[in-house]
Amino acid sequence: MPIKIGSLTVPGRVYVPPMAGVTDLVFRNIVRRVDRGCLLATEMVSSKSLQFKSDSRLMDLASDEHPIGIQIFGHEPEVMAMAAKMAEERGADFVDINMGCPVPKITNGKDGCALMREPDLAKEIVTAIHSSVKIPVTVKFRLGWDESTKNCVEFGEMLEGAGAAAVTVHGRTRAQRYAGNADWTMIAFVKKALSIPVFGNGDVFEPEDAARLLEATNCDGVAVARGTLGNPWLIPRITKYLDTGILDETPDVVDRLILAMHHCIGMIAYKGIRVGTSESRRHLINYTKGIHKSAPYRNRLTQVNSAREIVDVLAELVEQEAGMDGKRRFLSAVERYDIENIGKFDEGNNGPEAALKALGSAPLLVGAGR
Ligand SMILES: Cc1cc2nc3c(=O)[nH]c(=O)nc-3n(C[C@H](O)[C@H](O)[C@H](O)COP(=O)(O)O)c2cc1C
Repeated sequence: MPIKIGSLTVPGRVYVPPMAGVTDLVFRNIVRRVDRGCLLATEMVSSKSLQFKSDSRLMDLASDEHPIGIQIFGHEPEVMAMAAKMAEERGADFVDINMGCPVPKITNGKDGCALMREPDLAKEIVTAIHSSVKIPVTVKFRLGWDESTKNCVEFGEMLEGAGAAAVTVHGRTRAQRYAGNADWTMIAFVKKALSIPVFGNGDVFEPEDAARLLEATNCDGVAVARGTLGNPWLIPRITKYLDTGILDETPDVVDRLILAMHHCIGMIAYKGIRVGTSESRRHLINYTKGIHKSAPYRNRLTQVNSAREIVDVLAELVEQEAGMDGKRRFLSAVERYDIENIGKFDEGNNGPEAALKALGSAPLLVGAGR
């Protein structure tokens, strides 16, 4: 069933929420190509930094990735309202406010989850943003600051009263960071208290987890973050499972590494060879997780410096796992990219559409296992 977030209608129930260092233009492009209806969001963007750098690439959106939100963080209502306006001008379908980030660098300055300890200020921020933009305003937060101050229900009610059109609740406190299990029961209390859509979040790694979360919380949708790392096809698997009860297999190792290569090519095309390859390394580690006897290859992947090196290491790993047939399939998929020249001529200055063009439009995940 579609979800209505203010004036925005979202076709699916699955949301890939903001992840700094992950949900950039290239990752989102992959997710969008394998799942047309899920909700997407950018990485978090500092409202303060936008005062000095209004053309932040963190707010780059491609034309075909809607519905998508831009997430901002900060704690000064006027600065946040200005940032929200910029997000609207850049084409976001909604603006999301980060009130959940637990990292000390963020919370020490009253940003992120620190706002859960300052509900009056949080309310001022939502009110200021709500009156400055036409797009829906959403908020992402946690259960509370720590075990003794779990104020998520009152906090959610306050946000709804201030004009929030939807919320995402991660079932942990700030003190927990990522430790222990997400508490879906507390998320259910928030859902029960609010009339705006609520996305439940925390510890969904398989399609069945998503179904269990929705059942346990009665939430309108489910937000899936870490489960998508090196595993973007989790999103269409969840969507299909929720819609039809059918559990698709995960792609085989060849498809998985073709997609890893595609991801890296996109990173290099968009961010240039230096930044693109260095940021690709952690994605490669995620894509190769769990592959039998991959340790020596993973070690080499942490040191790659070019698209060619990435192709070579992955091709060797594919051969070990899937023999010569697998390697041929991998290399023939890689032929569609201009490996030697990718990212070379416009070091890190490619606009979103140009970068994504380098990826072509061939369907992803076409081989065995689908
Ligand atoms: C690498 C990484 C970066 C993240 N960056 C953000 C962020 O920028 N904004 C935000 O609201 N949450 C951020 N999160 C939190 C996730 O959106 C999500 O709430 C959390 O990981 C719990 O969901 P999960 O169990 O599905 O991973 C980040 C999480 C990870 C793992």
